[in-house]
Amino acid sequence: MDDPPPTDAVHSRLTKRLRLEPVGPANARDLRLVQDDDEVWPWYGGKQPSIEQAGQQARLMGEAWRSHGVHKWMAYDRVSGEVVGRGGLSRTPVDDDWGQIYEFLPAEPWVRVAHGAGRPFVAHANWLEIGWALRREFWGRGYASEIGRAGLAFAFDALGVHAVASCTVRHNVRSRAVMERIGLRYAGEIRSRGIVEGVEGERDDAPFTVCVLLRSDWDRQRGTASMKTLPSA
Ligand SMILES: CC(C)(COP(=O)(O)OP(=O)(O)OC[C@H]1O[C@@H](n2cnc3c(N)ncnc32)[C@H](O)[C@@H]1OP(=O)(O)O)[C@@H](O)C(=O)NCCC(=O)NCCS
Repeated sequence: MDDPPPTDAVHSRLTKRLRLEPVGPANARDLRLVQDDDEVWPWYGGKQPSIEQAGQQARLMGEAWRSHGVHKWMAYDRVSGEVVGRGGLSRTPVDDDWGQIYEFLPAEPWVRVAHGAGRPFVAHANWLEIGWALRREFWGRGYASEIGRAGLAFAFDALGVHAVASCTVRHNVRSRAVMERIGLRYAGEIRSRGIVEGVEGERDDAPFTVCVLLRSDWDRQRGTASMKTLPSA
């Protein structure tokens, strides 16, 4: 079966097994299908999202794609068309807890430069956060890593950012494993609102693991990969 035409020729992507479409209002139901999954929503604050919240998030993601030029994709199976998950990149706000990530980025001016668009919020211009969530039935097959690798290529090759960071609560070992599998490296921990292992509800000071990939390391990894494909002399 041929892939349907992309909904957004500039921002849509095809990977080996997935069709990645920028999330917008039209994807609200599909987004809910992922975020409402019993093995997904507990990781995001311990409350099951309503259809209205999913609609609001899909609208905001669509707005971020327009003004920030990047946000999350919905991931569809290229053969069956099934909703597999969602994931990708987002610009982090300049004035929230994610500013703690400065400590793990080079002490260079690009780290604090703000993106020109003020909507939907003022965000960093030169580094992005990456993340993923899959419906439970699609865990264990490498789909999150496939989304993650597409995200890194989009961030470094299409947008030309200097770094990609990823954060997850300390005990989310599966998300941490995806980070490391696609080449991000442990940088440290920050504290923010989230869930803590063995504690009910959210806490303001939940520990989050931060992993980072710098552009220089990405270029080096890619250089090494392309050298491996050269015929030996
Ligand atoms: C985090 C999450 C996306 C990780 O999903 P995942 O299935 O573990 O990760 P991947 O899709 O990359 O799959 C990797 C697994 O598939 C296996 N695999 C099978 N085929 C594979 C392939 N073709 N390529 C790569 N890995 C493959 C890997 O060996 C690995 O197995 P393991 O977990 O037994 O080591 C998932 O657990 C999730 O949605 N959790 C809830 C939401 C969440 O926590 N999101 C992150 C918040 S920060």
